[in-house]
Amino acid sequence: MKIGIANDHSGLVLKAALIPLIEEKGYGVVDYGTNDTASCDYPKYGKIVGEAVMAGEVDYGILICGTGLGISLAANKIKGIRAAVCSEPYTAKMSKEHNNCNILALGSRVVGEDLAKMIVAVWLDTTFEIGGRHQRRVDMISAIET
Ligand code: RB5
Repeated sequence: MKIGIANDHSGLVLKAALIPLIEEKGYGVVDYGTNDTASCDYPKYGKIVGEAVMAGEVDYGILICGTGLGISLAANKIKGIRAAVCSEPYTAKMSKEHNNCNILALGSRVVGEDLAKMIVAVWLDTTFEIGGRHQRRVDMISAIET
């Protein structure tokens, strides 16, 4: 399985800390940038990873900007993307288990490195509870897009 990861200028250091953890868990990592410290526009990176997930280039995405908000808002404009900003492990777990989120967004100015690692670890370890009420509700979200 492959994880696509991208960030704006604020997420560079956190991304570098997270990639080894993702790889240790057995996932391939595709880094969509930015790898430059120059100020850049987060919507570009949210769109790139959202499209990569929907194209099947990668299975899931992780996005980082200062708050996680802007980059997740951009990704959520791509049909089929469910991106959630998570600042603690419980929400991260539920975002997969109940909401079948295909992108995790993090705020590099909100969470520290160790907390971000815990969030990513639990998110990667969690699977969607297929069937039943959660599937129906996720289907209802998808129906809004059509
Ligand atoms: C960049 O300064 C900052 O606005 C961006 O990283 C993000 O927090 C936006 O939502």
